[in-house]
Amino acid sequence: MDPQLLADPYPIFRWLREEDPIHRSELGFWVMTRYDDCRHVLIDKAFGQGDFVKNIQLFYDDSFDVLANPAYAWLSRVFVMQDPPTHTRLRGLVASALSLKRIRAMEPRVRELARGMLADLAGRPGANFIESFAYRFPTLVMCDMLGLEEHEFSDDLLTQLNQAIADTFPVFETRALNPDELSLANRQMEFLTAFFHDLFERRRSHPRDDLTTALVQAREGDASLSAEELSTSVIGLFGAGFETTAHMIGNGMYLLGEHPQERAKLTNNLQLAKAATEEIVRYESSLQATYRTALADTVVAGHEFAAGDRILTIVAAANRDKAVFTRPEAFVVDPREEKPLTFGGGIHYCVGAELARLEGRVFLEELFTAFPNFQVDTANARLREAFLFRGFEHLPVTLQ
Ligand code: HEM
Repeated sequence: MDPQLLADPYPIFRWLREEDPIHRSELGFWVMTRYDDCRHVLIDKAFGQGDFVKNIQLFYDDSFDVLANPAYAWLSRVFVMQDPPTHTRLRGLVASALSLKRIRAMEPRVRELARGMLADLAGRPGANFIESFAYRFPTLVMCDMLGLEEHEFSDDLLTQLNQAIADTFPVFETRALNPDELSLANRQMEFLTAFFHDLFERRRSHPRDDLTTALVQAREGDASLSAEELSTSVIGLFGAGFETTAHMIGNGMYLLGEHPQERAKLTNNLQLAKAATEEIVRYESSLQATYRTALADTVVAGHEFAAGDRILTIVAAANRDKAVFTRPEAFVVDPREEKPLTFGGGIHYCVGAELARLEGRVFLEELFTAFPNFQVDTANARLREAFLFRGFEHLPVTLQ
């Protein structure tokens, strides 16, 4: 949480990659920054999630009652924190909802939402882009996906849901929360759980042709899936598609403001929107890192890890590894062959990666088509104070 480090973590990432690529943190875990090492840990089955309670106690102490906190109890059940076979069973539930075919079919609706929201923003010069667009766009896409009708989510409710996710997601961070943060996260988790339970009840009694009804029916046809698992997965989906995608869009807007030459490439050729999205998530990954636990004694890059060792794989550092990327420290809007690690790898590879890519590309296409002279006030941008989910809390933008 060192403010200087949060403002620009890349010099220290570079130093770690070059001088201390398997670094022992005082916080009690290992830190990896090289592309090949991070990829190895993400895809090798010798690494998994391990003992959730112990992993969280690392940030507090052994007496901290992790599962007595609703926000951590929820996190312990989210499938990204599970190993097979539970992970496999729960991932299957949402993976079909996010298949490539389904995502492609969503494009016209995603475009309509982006277009409408950008038009609204155009009436408010200098508005905070993060609040007015970056957070709301992925949330609306997710509400639409789940089949929430407009009368089921007022503007106020949408703001409340956004805030609840934002207040709860610090439980993913690599640190202890202070007592105020923790009690807020717990309260907001109770609000989210009640909201989704209520929605499931409505769909159970009045089934419709939407994803929520399909999930409720999947549960009724599958005795192995509890009501709690269902609401945990949906809150996870709602949240996972939110902090990460919101900051991908916010970071993208900022980068275009800071790099006029790269922006000009897009102005001249919108076919580059896909490559630009990929470069945004590589260069300024909205999710900076993820963790794994060694499930058995294992060697990576000559280093011996003991079963139970905890490892932070900093994908944002791996994405700038000169052993893999040409011009790693430059933001370049051209197609690249190399694949960033932003969406992870192995069995936990981001199940929403195609949706995120679609949202990024459609946003750029709509922005450059309708408002090619948009202005980004980067001098007045303010970053969030967080390590794991990297992005802005304030970014004034004028669309014209
Ligand atoms: C730019 C946007 C996004 C980024 C950077 C991102 C990144 C990631 C990463 C790195 C992982 C792997 C975590 C790990 O290995 O521990 C992951 C997993 C996941 N993501 Fe995303 N994500 C994004 C958008 C989305 C969206 C839009 C959704 C849902 C609609 C989503 C849903 C998930 C889920 C459910 C998992 C857990 C998968 C599993 O454990 O099998 N993500 N994401």
